[in-house]
Amino acid sequence: MTTINYVILAAGKGTRMRSAKPKVLHKLAGRSMLHHVVAAVDALGDSKKIIVTGHGAALVEEKFEKSDTLFVQQKEQLGTAHAVQMALPAICDDAVVVVLYGDVPLILPATIKRLLQVVGNKSIGLLTIALDDPEGYGRIVRNSVGAITSIVEQKDASIEQLNINEINTGVLALSAKQLREWLPKIDNNNAQGEYYLTDLIALAVDDDVTVISVHPETAAEVEGVNSRLQLSQLERTFQRQLALRLMESGTTLADPARLDVRGELITGTDNFIDINCIFEGVVTMGSNVTIGPNCCITNSTIGDGVKIKANTIIEESFVGDQAIVGPFARLRPGTKLGCDTKVGNFVETKNAIVGDGSKINHLSYVGDAQLGENVNIGAGTITCNYDGVNKHKTLLGDDVFVGSNTTLVAPIQISQGGFVAAGSTVTTAVPADSLAVGRAKQRNIDGWKRPMKNNRDK
Ligand code: UD1
Ligand code: CA
Repeated sequence: MTTINYVILAAGKGTRMRSAKPKVLHKLAGRSMLHHVVAAVDALGDSKKIIVTGHGAALVEEKFEKSDTLFVQQKEQLGTAHAVQMALPAICDDAVVVVLYGDVPLILPATIKRLLQVVGNKSIGLLTIALDDPEGYGRIVRNSVGAITSIVEQKDASIEQLNINEINTGVLALSAKQLREWLPKIDNNNAQGEYYLTDLIALAVDDDVTVISVHPETAAEVEGVNSRLQLSQLERTFQRQLALRLMESGTTLADPARLDVRGELITGTDNFIDINCIFEGVVTMGSNVTIGPNCCITNSTIGDGVKIKANTIIEESFVGDQAIVGPFARLRPGTKLGCDTKVGNFVETKNAIVGDGSKINHLSYVGDAQLGENVNIGAGTITCNYDGVNKHKTLLGDDVFVGSNTTLVAPIQISQGGFVAAGSTVTTAVPADSLAVGRAKQRNIDGWKRPMKNNRDK
């Protein structure tokens, strides 16, 4: 098997981003552009990756600590050939080398694979595409029989060459041996005074090596990001692709243009997602799930048949089968809802385990709590889990009933079947099957006269 070494160029400054952050760390669909390139490469199996960094090198390296990733620094950006030169010492002698760009994030593994297939002793692979508007790109020059003879950069091109619409995407594959031979021969005698990697093509042709062009499936795959506008356009393209795949795998989307997946959304079938929902990190969803409009779900698991109603926020939580959540509910990290549970409007939960069939339907805060099965929490119930220094637990057994407007001062335990009268402040344990009434006794005053307005003050 051939060893493949990937060289990912990421030294450029990205001036037009106007950012303190290196360009390749800007995010597309919740992950850095460089992350996308690395993920595409990783999808093809284990292989060595050499990332050429320059501007913001330390920041980039910090984000990509992985055993199979190597960083080489290009202190001065003298051109793409110079950048690859920096990686040369790290490249294995018998490897096939693929050059990729850190700011071209949507390259597909399948395309890289097809490019690799054309590499031989006497052939190299070059990824090209015909564009309606080739402005700015290096143009692919072919001879009378259609064979590639060179690449000419926009700034060095003749008027005739500027009419060529087949462009260099920058992605190429060749043997390390050939790269070692040709790279030192490249000079910077051109309009930009840079060492152009693209000059390698003419050198290959001089050595009777054939340059075989391979094309990406779509133009988006080879689109580079130079500005925030381009980043936003590519984000939309990517989201459209994601939405399409979701629909193909059995999820109905109210509007494929109004969904954002910033990470990975794993779904069963027959789910419905309404407009303006955002999924972040890894979200796993069963089947027959309904998600209302304006929901944000992050790193969570949603069971089968769950209904999540409008404007609900769920973070690092687990929602059991057939649960109903929202509208306007907020499940914070560590929430685990059992099957057939209900969490209603203006309810906030955190570190809360809620047993099967339990309900927290209105206006409550349930934190650091463990609820048994079929517990009913009345409207306006608060677990006072924090004493200003430490957090304490609230434990409620099966079939506990907590009346409305109750304050549960933790640490507190209410045993199975315990019942709390509405408006109580509960500070001591409630035994099984007993009623706790923790409020001032009502008294009525006979013949009470309402206060009167004082006329003299008028
Ligand atoms: C390059 C190609 C051009 C191609 C285009 C595709 C060359 C000479 N030209 O042009 O044919 O059509 O890409 O997008 O290769 N980089 C470094 N170090 C450097 C210079 C660049 O790491 O010294 C990195 C940049 O960060 C970027 C990539 O290489 O990721 C491309 O560099 P850029 O300056 O954008 O090249 P283009 O002029 O666009
Ligand atoms: Ca560029």
